[in-house]
Amino acid sequence: MSHVHAHNRRAWDARVEREDAYTATATDQQFQNPLAVIDQCGWLGDVSGKRVLCLAAGGGKQSVLYAAAGAIVTTVDLSPKMLELDRQVAAARKLKVETVEASMDDLSMFRESSFELVVQPVSTCYVPDIERVYRQVARVLVVGGLYISQHKQPVNLQADVVPSARGYLLNEPYHRTGPLPPVAAGTANREAGTLEFLHRWEQLLGGLCRNGFVIEDVAEPKHADPKAAAGTFGHRSCFVPPYIKIKARRKGEATSQAAMRKIWMP
Ligand SMILES: C[S@@+](CC[C@H](N)C(=O)[O-])C[C@H]1O[C@@H](n2cnc3c(N)ncnc32)[C@H](O)[C@@H]1O
Repeated sequence: MSHVHAHNRRAWDARVEREDAYTATATDQQFQNPLAVIDQCGWLGDVSGKRVLCLAAGGGKQSVLYAAAGAIVTTVDLSPKMLELDRQVAAARKLKVETVEASMDDLSMFRESSFELVVQPVSTCYVPDIERVYRQVARVLVVGGLYISQHKQPVNLQADVVPSARGYLLNEPYHRTGPLPPVAAGTANREAGTLEFLHRWEQLLGGLCRNGFVIEDVAEPKHADPKAAAGTFGHRSCFVPPYIKIKARRKGEATSQAAMRKIWMP
């Protein structure tokens, strides 16, 4: 295991112990209509019977909601404690979820074309090389299958957290190697204690195109709150878009778009 992976594994285990952000499990209310939570963009439709990989998605939220919606779910995560939350919630709700402790950039434990859908919450920031992840996902996804992923926008990782008199200044370079500087606990756009990497647009979007995907849609989840106080996440999000969500379809060499849509059509 690389030093980055070992570091982030420890960091996420510690975040579970402290009940930090993004370690909260799915709520009773979310279980009342799981599809409404997992498919906010309306990109999926019925997931029942589909083989779904929740990638880097431990924490007892995404996996169990997909399972409650009828999907056949496998969750991959680097953090044993995040995966334990999936097992606990699944047991409490009598749902079936397979948990696999692994890194998103090595999915060699799965056979080719094992899944019809791969969903990945914000997490590619924890690996230095996003294209390795894309190559792995392309291999385990069937031709015509969907890859729904959410990422931190580069500018979100470049801009100051606290505004100056001139607004949220861009202080981190766009072209860079190595992880971003550490942040204080409670910083809303970053996870304190983890090693995070900025991926440029050509890596985030071009990487998908170069590794066997067609991008079908893109969304920017809205967190902007014009009434929020300066320095809060809602205020910063009025100026700095935090995330991007991408709907990508696995293309095949000899497969037409029409044939691919038959494999997954909402
Ligand atoms: C934002 S959290 C996951 C989603 C969470 N359930 C939520 O609702 O926000 C990011 C996850 O990425 C995982 N992670 C970090 N580095 C990873 C890696 N290299 N491979 C797989 N998972 C990783 C962390 O352990 C953590 O569970």
